[in-house]
Amino acid sequence: MFSIAIDGPAGAGKSTIAKLVAKELEIAYLDTGALYRGIGYYLNEKKVDVLKEEKVKEAIASYKVQLAFEEKQPQIYVNDSNVTAYLRTEEVGNIASKIATYSCIREKLLSVQQETAKKMDVVMDGRDIGTNVLPNANLKIYLTASVSERANRRYKELVEKGESCDIAKIEADIKARDKQDMQREIAPLRQAEDAILIDSSQMTIDEVVEQIVKEAKERKE
Ligand code: DC
Repeated sequence: MFSIAIDGPAGAGKSTIAKLVAKELEIAYLDTGALYRGIGYYLNEKKVDVLKEEKVKEAIASYKVQLAFEEKQPQIYVNDSNVTAYLRTEEVGNIASKIATYSCIREKLLSVQQETAKKMDVVMDGRDIGTNVLPNANLKIYLTASVSERANRRYKELVEKGESCDIAKIEADIKARDKQDMQREIAPLRQAEDAILIDSSQMTIDEVVEQIVKEAKERKE
């Protein structure tokens, strides 16, 4: 099986890029953040105090987390309910980042991710794919951009959706999320030694996709 790991901080454009790379190479795409978001959303719905690791551990012991590819789109199921449509809010992202610091959560999701890569050629994006989930991935990319560029992109995205937002708050949120993801004890976000660093601050989406597809094709040959 062929796998591409794309890691990087929040807002670096990983999911947009990973999706396009997968399409170009005609392989599956898995946004692993959606798994963390899925459990986070479900815990929140069930009124579990996500700030208390013990409560989370107790709750998820009986949870069943599943991934299904429906028309090539990954769908996340927690205890048989499809939570995919509810995951892309700032609130769920922040909950996901918090619970992603807990070992019980990371252990639970590790096998779901690794099993996927055993079954199909895949592009996976996340924080610890190249360092931890798929240490033998055929290609590893560390995709980043400056904090101000990431905040700007997020701001534009929200404005386009007609949502009111404050750029200073977005930038503060990004910094807080970077800190939480990079400084956690287990599987923190960092560039794998054998990953290619791409700083997309001054690059277009197409340029980034092109570079990754080229690297992938070279490795596939
Ligand atoms: O990529 P995202 O914003 O959807 O991810 C949400 C959170 O999930 C992120 O802040 C940290 C966590 N996460 C992780 O710890 N490991 C991954 N492979 C993917 C996401």
